[in-house]
Amino acid sequence: MKQTQIIILDYGSQYTQLLARRIRDLHVYAEVVNHRLTWLEMHQQYPDLKGIVLSGGPASIYDADAYLVDPAIFDSGLPIFGVCYGLQLITHLYHGSVERASKQEFGQAKLKILHPTKLFTDVPDNQDVWMSHADHITKMPDTFEKLATSEHSIAAIKHHSKEIYGIQFHAEVTHTLYGEQIVKNFLFLICNCTQDWFMSEFISAKVEEIRTLVRDQEVILGLSGGVDSSVAAALISKAIGDQLTCIFVDTGLLRLNESEKVMHAYEQNFMMKIIKVDAADQFYQALKGVEEPETKRKIIGKVFTDIFSDQAAKLQHAHFLAQGTIYPDVIESSTISGTSKVIKSHHNVGGLPDDLNFKLLEPLRTLFKDEVRKVGVELGLPESMIYRHPFPGPGLGIRVIGEVTKEKCDILRLVDDIFLSMMVEHDLYHQASQSFATLLPVKTVGVMGDNRTYDYVCALRSVQSVDFMTATISRFDWEFLEKVTTRIINEVDGVNRVVYDITSKPPGTIEWE
Ligand code: XMP
Repeated sequence: MKQTQIIILDYGSQYTQLLARRIRDLHVYAEVVNHRLTWLEMHQQYPDLKGIVLSGGPASIYDADAYLVDPAIFDSGLPIFGVCYGLQLITHLYHGSVERASKQEFGQAKLKILHPTKLFTDVPDNQDVWMSHADHITKMPDTFEKLATSEHSIAAIKHHSKEIYGIQFHAEVTHTLYGEQIVKNFLFLICNCTQDWFMSEFISAKVEEIRTLVRDQEVILGLSGGVDSSVAAALISKAIGDQLTCIFVDTGLLRLNESEKVMHAYEQNFMMKIIKVDAADQFYQALKGVEEPETKRKIIGKVFTDIFSDQAAKLQHAHFLAQGTIYPDVIESSTISGTSKVIKSHHNVGGLPDDLNFKLLEPLRTLFKDEVRKVGVELGLPESMIYRHPFPGPGLGIRVIGEVTKEKCDILRLVDDIFLSMMVEHDLYHQASQSFATLLPVKTVGVMGDNRTYDYVCALRSVQSVDFMTATISRFDWEFLEKVTTRIINEVDGVNRVVYDITSKPPGTIEWE
């Protein structure tokens, strides 16, 4: 089923994962690997390799500690494709020059193709591409020819006799109109890849793999109701039926009726064995008097782990712990992109208790989020579960700003539900990437009828984002926001003022804590 035909050596670009996704969307299995891998290691680990991509990255090739590549790849006979930093790396290693450009190019640029090549088959001679670079080629390497230019730079090169290509622009972003065609040309005209990466085949192969691995043993899984753990549960359940036991902890920090919905969807529709633990009081108790967000996260993580461990210890026949780890999590920890700065600790409820003595089962660890969703749909999970906005592990614990209490969580649940259900009614839900309400620890004065009120303020937030690293706000019309506000204030006791957050990320983060 899965042969890795393309590897992408990661030099830390924000677009590296996107490149892998683009290739997989074309049904060719690609993996992102650390750029320090030697040619020998690549050859041994990936016997079916058909091509190597060198990703972009924030460094400059002339820096003393610039990331390089094992030069043996250039004699491997495999096609090579350098993107942005990758192009500069190829240029440098073939004795051309790369220097800081006097005119940096960020954003849309005009590409002019100088003469036809396989890489630009079915691509117009003049087109818009997306550039994001400060350095550029100032001297071509002798053994290369220029394939294309932009207004200020050499934009594409090719080795005279080998299949080694480099482009200065980003073919993987949608702003490069013919980017997909260029990637296709590299895969199918240059590397001769075959299309063999399909989700239905993934499922049947994974099911077999899980059966062989688990045999007659038992598996436990922490079900959170989120997409990843749900899809992992459905896949494992398809493979081994009731040898899987899910543990679902109602933390009291979930959305309105969430616990009933999860039990209904998975227990009744999927016949999964689920142990539901009602632990709301334990969480509220542990969070009493705590205001600091990171401390709240740590407490929530710890209480969850303790409860989960207790439950797991009762299941004496369980040898495997299943988790919904997905590919971006794996990439983060194994390549240089994992070194970026932590802004929030993102302690996931559902995380692995370190001291439990289980073998790990992570059936989704090679998949991107959109692939996980496709698997979920093929397995018959309800679309409302698969295409819902992300919900953070600590849940309402970080959306009730400051001290968390049951009373505040109950208020916030109602507010959040009105906001989200009205977005669905107005066909706005799927246009946004993440939407939610937070409850502020502030009371303000209002007037309802003839009475003065003194109640909480809630803030609504809705953003558009691809990777949740950056985000812009959803530009709702005023009428919609007014309708939502009216319903919230009329229907939710305890709230008398609604504000809409118009901060993008950066400088704001998506969550308020
Ligand atoms: P921020 O607030 O950092 O959020 O801009 C980016 C994305 O991460 C989610 N998020 C979390 N998810 N545990 C999680 O599982 C957490 O502690 C956590 N904090 C933020 C947030 O909802 C958004 O999707």
